[in-house]
Amino acid sequence: MDIRIFKNSYELSCAAADLIAEAIKRKNAVLGLATGASPKETYDRLIEKYNKGEISFKNVTTFNLDEYCAIPRTDKHSYFTYMCESLFNHVDIKEENIHVPDGNPENTEEYCASYDEAIKNAGGIDIQLLGIGRNGHIGFNEPSDSFTKGTYKVKLSDSTVEANKIYFSSNDKMPEYAITMGVESILNAKEIILIAQGKAKAEAVNNMINGEISPSCPASILRKHNAVHIFLDGEAASLL
Ligand code: F6R
Repeated sequence: MDIRIFKNSYELSCAAADLIAEAIKRKNAVLGLATGASPKETYDRLIEKYNKGEISFKNVTTFNLDEYCAIPRTDKHSYFTYMCESLFNHVDIKEENIHVPDGNPENTEEYCASYDEAIKNAGGIDIQLLGIGRNGHIGFNEPSDSFTKGTYKVKLSDSTVEANKIYFSSNDKMPEYAITMGVESILNAKEIILIAQGKAKAEAVNNMINGEISPSCPASILRKHNAVHIFLDGEAASLL
């Protein structure tokens, strides 16, 4: 594991954006993308690189990790909306190359299998961006008894609902389910960058790096992958 601790979130986001930009310059990259607070500044840096003409998204394909169920993708809380506002609306990516899971598929099993198939048909993910949950989740793969495989519908854990409900007002109930890529789909990526910032992530980060490799901390499985970068700020690294 390439573990790097940065002075501040600006430097962290520059380093993460540099790695993604390299992948984009190398080939018609397939990016695995995350939402939430952790990757937000990295997207800002990528938009800056695009505006300076250093990179283009014209031949980039993206697959997002997850999406909430029970809200339409046009909802202000959906991960589709987050991605449009945080990245897609600001760069030259083609609409047909954007993939964010459908949170409300007609046939969940068939849909999930087709999402995995689409990743395979695109040639697999070249670089996967991840955050980590306070409970060690990656994507929405919550702590459990076994590591998950492909894309599936998951019931969000109490810890995840607690962490994410701040984004929902009391009138907008936080969804209890999501569609997420499985752990195996994530591990199939050729290269992975996990970003963690802040004290609330310190325990999960320590478990991921120093704890047992176990589905009780889904992120711990990343230690089995041969090209993982863990980018931390001082607080997230404080228990290492
Ligand atoms: C988001 C995702 C989640 C988040 C994690 C951390 O697409 O898959 O695993 O990365 O919950 O969220 P933040 O970054 O908001 O602390």
